[in-house]
Amino acid sequence: MDKLVIEGGKPLSGTIVIQGAKNAALPILAASMLVEGIVTIDHVPKLLDIDVMLNILRELGCRAEHEDETVTLDTTSLHSSHIPEALMRQMRSSIFLMGPLLARFGEVTIYQPGGCAIGERKIDLHLSGLRALGAQIDEEDSRIVCYAKRLKGADIHLDLPSVGATENIMMAAVLAEGLTTISNAAREPEIQDLQHFLNSMGAKIVGAGTDTITIEGVEKLKPSRYQVIPDRIVTGTVMVAAAATRGQVTLLNTCPSHLSSLIHVLRRTGVQITVDGDIIKVGTASRPKAVDRIVTSPYPAFPTDLQSQVMVLLALADGVSVMKETIFEGRFKHVDELSRMGADIRVDLNSAYVRGVSRLYGATVEATDLRAGAALVIAGLAAQGKTVVEQVHHIDRGYDRIEHMLGRLGARITRYSPVPNNQIVQ
Ligand code: EPZ
Repeated sequence: MDKLVIEGGKPLSGTIVIQGAKNAALPILAASMLVEGIVTIDHVPKLLDIDVMLNILRELGCRAEHEDETVTLDTTSLHSSHIPEALMRQMRSSIFLMGPLLARFGEVTIYQPGGCAIGERKIDLHLSGLRALGAQIDEEDSRIVCYAKRLKGADIHLDLPSVGATENIMMAAVLAEGLTTISNAAREPEIQDLQHFLNSMGAKIVGAGTDTITIEGVEKLKPSRYQVIPDRIVTGTVMVAAAATRGQVTLLNTCPSHLSSLIHVLRRTGVQITVDGDIIKVGTASRPKAVDRIVTSPYPAFPTDLQSQVMVLLALADGVSVMKETIFEGRFKHVDELSRMGADIRVDLNSAYVRGVSRLYGATVEATDLRAGAALVIAGLAAQGKTVVEQVHHIDRGYDRIEHMLGRLGARITRYSPVPNNQIVQ
């Protein structure tokens, strides 16, 4: 397992171009299975999660190439809608394939994706949405088999604005007979990107980005070429790293409007932020101020995916902040690791009480999940001394070579990969 070794205490400075959005690319790659032919998706970053998704598509018979951030898919030879359990387990986002494969083949077999470090990650809203569209779903142990001769449009209300369930239902409804409405839909930018991609292939969807999405079923789609939006969570991660190291960083190819809640929080800590088109500049030379209360909620509120990163900044702030996590029940696993670096954080149920300290100290820490890992890297950059972050594969799921990205901003960060036993030279 790779490690990252970070020499902290150096302010980040310089300019960086933001990668394409993992959480837009994954459903868009899945949605490509709705159409027969060559589909080209640009601005797809090289990430573990993308690799897993492409391997699943290849397993189903699709040809998939990923060169220089462009993915080319030939879905003509797609012949299976049975997703192997081992691959499901590698990445729960394979659940996104349910809707498209059911719409294309009339049947799909998947396996319970299971929980992960951040929570139980139920899929009941996905299944109830597909049932509403006429799918027959049999659950046998962890195996889930879905059938539907032809899906029929329906009025669907989500108990929770689930991102994945909204996307899965959208993709299943595109080829259904008649009209589908999704109310209490999730409003994330990645859902808007999925709508734009599907409509570029001839789908008729309106409303993504609001809490009501309407899909008018069509007979057939035609292949298209599409560019994915920038990754707002990677953007936010770099912004927080710049603030935590008291640096000056310019971020290019961003969507500032996707980060309004983070920009508001960072300004409350005293960080200077300027926005000009798709350029964000972040700078500060002083100690951040505490923020009395931040609550993670569905978009456009403060995103759960930036909770752990911002907590690092609060751990260095002057005063006491409270961070409340309302989306995932297990998303405070970075707290213990930060405490080992000198942070003063007390967790009570789903609230973290963060008493800022003047400095953090390097330590050997372990990434437990994608965004907790990113937070530990930020802590290492800001800390005095050397930090070793282990289990870096979690971070590689969502950040394209994070050490190169931050290294270009002056970070002293090196990746160490263990030498396989059979290569140890005696
Ligand atoms: C997406 O996950 C993102 N992943 C997550 O990003 C993100 O944290 C999350 O949305 C919330 O914004 C991708 O887009 C690939 P949800 P998803 O369905 O779709 C409950 C990252 O770091 N729920 O909106 O799984 C669920 O348990 C990842 O990039 C049900 O109860 O999120 C959770 O508590 C982590 N039943 C809440 O809803 C369901 O059927 C939000 O989940 C589905 C979800």
